[in-house]
Amino acid sequence: MKKAYLFIIALFLFSCNPAKDSSKGNTEIEGKIQDLISQMTLEEKLGQMSQFDPGQFGDEENLKQAIKDGEVGSILNLVGAATINKLQKVAVEESRLGIPIIIGRDVIHGYKTIMPIPLGMAATWNPELTEKAMAVSAKEAATEGVHWTFAPMIDISRDPRWGRIAESCGEDTYLASQLAVAMVKGFQGEDPSAPDRIAACAKHFVGYGAAEGGRDYNTAYIPETQLRNDYLPPFKAATDAGVLTFMSGFNDLNGVPVSGNEFTLKNILREEWGFNGMVVSDWASIYEMIAHGYAADPKEAAEKSLRAGVDMEMTSNCYVSSAQALLDEGKLDMRTINRYVANILRVKFELGLFDNPYTDESLAAKTILAPENLEVAKEAASESFVLLQNKQQLLPLSRELKSVAVIGPLADAPHDQMGTWVFDGNKENSVTPLTALREKLGTNKVNFAKGLEISRSRSTEGFAAAVQAAKKSDIALLFMGEESILSGEAHCLTNLELLGAQNELIDAIAATGKPIVVVIMAGRPLTISHVLDKADAVLYAWAPGTMGGPAIADMLFGETVPSGKTPVTFLKTVGQVPMYYNHKNTGRPADYSNWTQLDKIPVEAGQTSLGNTSHYLDAGFDPLFPFGFGLSYTTFNYSGLNISTGSMPADGTMEVTVTVENTGDYDGDEIVQLYIHDKAGSITRPVKQLKGFDKVHLKAGEMKQVSLTLKGSDLEFYNGKKYLTEAGEFDLWVGPNSAEGLHTTFTIN
Ligand code: GLC
Repeated sequence: MKKAYLFIIALFLFSCNPAKDSSKGNTEIEGKIQDLISQMTLEEKLGQMSQFDPGQFGDEENLKQAIKDGEVGSILNLVGAATINKLQKVAVEESRLGIPIIIGRDVIHGYKTIMPIPLGMAATWNPELTEKAMAVSAKEAATEGVHWTFAPMIDISRDPRWGRIAESCGEDTYLASQLAVAMVKGFQGEDPSAPDRIAACAKHFVGYGAAEGGRDYNTAYIPETQLRNDYLPPFKAATDAGVLTFMSGFNDLNGVPVSGNEFTLKNILREEWGFNGMVVSDWASIYEMIAHGYAADPKEAAEKSLRAGVDMEMTSNCYVSSAQALLDEGKLDMRTINRYVANILRVKFELGLFDNPYTDESLAAKTILAPENLEVAKEAASESFVLLQNKQQLLPLSRELKSVAVIGPLADAPHDQMGTWVFDGNKENSVTPLTALREKLGTNKVNFAKGLEISRSRSTEGFAAAVQAAKKSDIALLFMGEESILSGEAHCLTNLELLGAQNELIDAIAATGKPIVVVIMAGRPLTISHVLDKADAVLYAWAPGTMGGPAIADMLFGETVPSGKTPVTFLKTVGQVPMYYNHKNTGRPADYSNWTQLDKIPVEAGQTSLGNTSHYLDAGFDPLFPFGFGLSYTTFNYSGLNISTGSMPADGTMEVTVTVENTGDYDGDEIVQLYIHDKAGSITRPVKQLKGFDKVHLKAGEMKQVSLTLKGSDLEFYNGKKYLTEAGEFDLWVGPNSAEGLHTTFTIN
């Protein structure tokens, strides 16, 4: 008897987990939800569980009728306050129960004011700035009737062949987790019902970035230890930050598509994490379980997604077409339907849609592209740039230059500089590098010749004019990289070299003997060894957005100083994939002493004479640039690493301090990074893991003590059986990137 009693108490306490179910704690809202559900027909409930693209209705009248009939809970890919207010009016004033519709949109990195792509935002290592940029995006989108963005995309991405690495926060779990929180806060604010906030959506839950071969939508095999240690934490961070929605992805995970995966959607998201928001599928990802071979037909697809816990179906109609049959066959119960409808209604209540369903149509004109928004976009672009090379301190350039040649397919590409996943940004609003440099220096000082029409061009007919432009200028500024369409969803590459004849164009300009600065705009880390050989300076600008041009121009002439750091590893060659900094050591780790480079292998070398270690004969064992790398116009010196204790319990805390001095001639920002290494664990552990960072501003000659906190709980990992922080020896580094830094050790006792 006693056990049963205790079990009932436990059940009650678990189901009312206050930590996670804050809105469930709002009894007034819950009461309203239950009241509505008690009145709803099955068709109306299924309507709430359905999200449509307007194009699925043929014309507006059909859409209005469906809304009036309670068949539409959500619409995506529709913007415009007046248009949306008109449809909302039908929902609120003409449908039987007056439940407002929720409008979703991919506001991934800006609405009209386009911010750097998320991979560029990650290169800022600046959560505060990221939050500010997403807040601007939310403010603009909300004025046009958007209630909900399908962002942040927080899939850990370790494969630059995968086009969607552009939308990610990069390869590291800790950095992605910090930025996930910042993005959720930026979109939702403290009060998501505020007129300038929108619901965020943690996507794509989970494991999408591990697509085999870096080919989009492909299979992902992730052992539970790796899933929990590397891929889940950013989603947990988003949950703890109060994200209102999740999106289940396209991929199958270990044979089970994640849009029908009970382990991830039910066991982890709902039961372990206590998430009580709403889960939307990805575009037709429920229906696509048939193609996956996980469902025989739409009914089985519906059954599996409903059992797993997808509340809302995006664009396909397995739920609408199959729910009644599943109920009749006892494969679905109304309690489940009611729970999912409650999740959806709860989000609509939390967004204030019941109290304020309409958008103030006067706001857009004074909000969109406002100067302060453009200023944030420029600041974000500046902090996203990563200086990879600067021979003889060529940068920053002197304003005394008599003339500059501006060359390359990305020099004046207003559409492409916005990057992938831009639905509402207009290229007319982009300020390109060419425009910005002409404004800064005067048109007569700028000699422009594209050299190549687009990044994929193979024709060299434009080279002569480009060479001429370089010859008559003091310096050549080349803008190379990728058109925006070459990264993003379904846009994967097997070759990461500059496409077209871009390398040949660089060679032609290098032959003039002029100093060369190459600015690369791309949605992924390209393999740029050839560029580094030919150029004096290389600045990686990702896809910088609307204000990319002025941000680049200011930086080239020293008005701003580079501070960005790579959020992904840069490879020498695509054959090194997958290569990421927090890899395992293996039993035979390579270093510079124990392997032989291809062109140094003696003829008829003995079979075991080259060093049996983990490396490539033609590419060695290390990357082109490590995770966390980035130069400045100034230099920073690290000294005096100190930890407040050399040994602490698993629940202890230590202060890590280091002195950083700006030893150069320019004021600058340095991202001080803290890494640890668990020397021996119950499973093998990564050679390094980022566990803290701080971006500090130092004037030329200034010295500061930087303090970071490391908690025993920061060392926790999942070993296949449980989460734990294990006793033992740890390495600790503090430095400018993942490959160098001051070192010490400590123990967990
Ligand atoms: C797309 C993407 C997803 C996006 C959704 C709506 O296919 O996978 O990230 O939010 O459909 O556009």
